Amino acid sequence: MAVIKVRQNGSLLVEGDDVTLVDWNGKEYTLPRRPFSLCRCGASSRKPFCDGTHSKIGFAAAEAAVPESVDRPADG
Ligand code: FES
Repeated sequence: MAVIKVRQNGSLLVEGDDVTLVDWNGKEYTLPRRPFSLCRCGASSRKPFCDGTHSKIGFAAAEAAVPESVDRPADG
């Protein structure tokens, strides 16, 4: 099983041995190591992987999973 952990003010940490990362053509990326991190800030020079630049640019994104944020049907 794969687990993708949203890091506070940082990357997406992908954990799990049964994970394959492919591009838009379905071609597989060589994974640098496991677990690995995907860039969430858009500033990495090694996209789609995180290179740590998010901390240098002050990337801020600290949305936690909140049960109340789940989509609900509109009130009718
Ligand atoms: S999230 Fe780390 S460089 Fe973008």
